[in-house]
Amino acid sequence: MLNTSDEIKSRLDIIEVIRQYVPLKPAGLNFLARCPFHNEKSASFTVSPTKQVWHCFGCGRGGDLFSFVMEIEKITFVEALRLLAPRAGIVLKQESGPEASLRNRILDILEQATDFYHRTFINDVNSRQARHYVAGRGLSEDVIRDWNIGYAPDSWDDLIIFLKQKGFTDKEIILSGLAIDRNEGGRCYNRFRGRIMFPIREVNGNVVGFTGRLLPEFEKRDLGQGKYVNSPQTAVYDKGKVLFGLDKAKQAIREGNLAIVVEGQMDCLTAHQFGFTNVVASSGTALTIEQAAILKRYANRVAFAFDMDPAGRQALDRGSEQAFAFELEALAVSLPAGKDPDECIRKDLDGWKNSLSSAEPVMQYYLKEVLAANDSETATGRRAIVQKFLPRVARIANIIEKDFWLKKLSQAVDVGEHFLHEAMAAANKSKVLDKISVIEKVAPKAEQVPRNREEILSEQLVALLVAFPDLIPAISPYVPSEQIMGQSSQLLYRQLVVYYNKNIAHIEDGAPVFEYGEFRTWLSKQGFTAGDIQELDRLAILIEKNFSDIKAEEANSAIKGIQNELRRSYLNRRMKAVAKLIGEMESQNSSVERDERLDTLLKEFNDLAEEVRQLSSSVE
Ligand code: UTP
Ligand code: MN
Repeated sequence: MLNTSDEIKSRLDIIEVIRQYVPLKPAGLNFLARCPFHNEKSASFTVSPTKQVWHCFGCGRGGDLFSFVMEIEKITFVEALRLLAPRAGIVLKQESGPEASLRNRILDILEQATDFYHRTFINDVNSRQARHYVAGRGLSEDVIRDWNIGYAPDSWDDLIIFLKQKGFTDKEIILSGLAIDRNEGGRCYNRFRGRIMFPIREVNGNVVGFTGRLLPEFEKRDLGQGKYVNSPQTAVYDKGKVLFGLDKAKQAIREGNLAIVVEGQMDCLTAHQFGFTNVVASSGTALTIEQAAILKRYANRVAFAFDMDPAGRQALDRGSEQAFAFELEALAVSLPAGKDPDECIRKDLDGWKNSLSSAEPVMQYYLKEVLAANDSETATGRRAIVQKFLPRVARIANIIEKDFWLKKLSQAVDVGEHFLHEAMAAANKSKVLDKISVIEKVAPKAEQVPRNREEILSEQLVALLVAFPDLIPAISPYVPSEQIMGQSSQLLYRQLVVYYNKNIAHIEDGAPVFEYGEFRTWLSKQGFTAGDIQELDRLAILIEKNFSDIKAEEANSAIKGIQNELRRSYLNRRMKAVAKLIGEMESQNSSVERDERLDTLLKEFNDLAEEVRQLSSSVE
């Protein structure tokens, strides 16, 4: 019986799924595109419809449907299951354990509430003022629909009643953050009342919480409530770990290698409405270290477009510090004075566009600012400049960049770099580094090791055998695995032979014999790592790429040729080693033992030489 992920794989076509992220072009048996995981000019990202695997010959990444979705969405395996299951028409079984099921219950509640608020906003007679307000703020119908903008009426219990009808308990509703416990008795009331509701989604699109904006008429009533209220921390929501809008912005962020961070939900919605789809909102706080880590998965650059007030300024300071910690390039967008992005985009679109195109590295922004505020010709002025700017330099994780700004500072105040280094070393307590170690680091790029001819030949031989497994029994007795060069080729070769002998060789009545997917599964059951299996996929695609119309006989003679060449270089290696031993023996004093040993070595050398001769003549 297939397990869930295999079932999903069998129902979905890898080409169709990958196409939704990457424009694939047919090329022979395969499909090609520029790799979405690294920067490249030519297309080396390859997907095989027959093998249902992908591999990039540029960066070395590869795998199956799941690994692709995990990598491109930056999600875990379980999240990928959740994402793909509905598309494969599969209903996932409830995750086990009380914690997992509570999480699912809360996600269900939030999904239902999103619907409830949105329907109320669209249809309810009591929502007229809300609709009027939102229309007045200029949000389009598309945005209202796509972002599921809603309304929580000024009621104590309408949502709660609705959710209870759907089978949720008071306790669950309280745990979802949508209701507040009135007393110990468990009766509760709506957290959000009289508010425009913005669902907050995590990157895969699940609603995890809400931000609610009070309608202006209730603002006047002043109940001491904030203009904006957020969901409290729950089992599924942590304010500092989500970015509002990322589920919709991630594609544009990846494509442009740039995320624009704004403070408010309204800023974010307006930006998207006007086509700036790489915008996310940090929801009124500075970018947190977790949010920086999330952004780093999609882009190397982040631009902060915050209000030009003290709060916005502080958010820029803190946010860029987190960005530096992750080697994200941080840019500062200077908006026209007195405007937030929402206002700026609506009233002064050109001004907004100019601000974006003249965004400058945060460090440059700071340096300009501090130089403008102090006189670099006086000693006090210089001291002030260094005092303000140096701590910022100290926080940069990237050494090259750090050195760059240190030089800039040194030039600006005409103070020798070594003095600045000393000052920095004394001051640097490296708090940032402590934080980084807590957060997962981004996966390193696959290493591209230059290979020699034997390794390339070995690889081709294994690839050919994967493509023509029927040749395995004819070849393997003559190719000992130590003649296969390259660690992973050798490993795969051994496994291929073992697998064949165990599972295929003894089957009498033919078809279907060797199935690629089964071999792949078998490997992973033997404890082979994702890396090994990735290597197998690469070889499998390699063969389709280079020998797409090759016939079995041609494959056979290609393998024979490779086999000969590998054998010859093996013999040559061995001859060199034996010659070296002979040399060592000859320099020793004669003894019975030495002479015997020397004889054996000389005989081996002659045998090797003879075989090389025979091989050469058989090739000619
Ligand atoms: P602002 O006060 O700048 O509001 O707060 P805004 O985005 O311009 O909103 P409008 O235009 O008045 O509707 C910026 C962000 O700070 C958070 C919200 O996420 C808001 O979008 N905030 C603000 C709160 O969380 N609570 C508040 O009381 C105020
Ligand atoms: Mn505003």
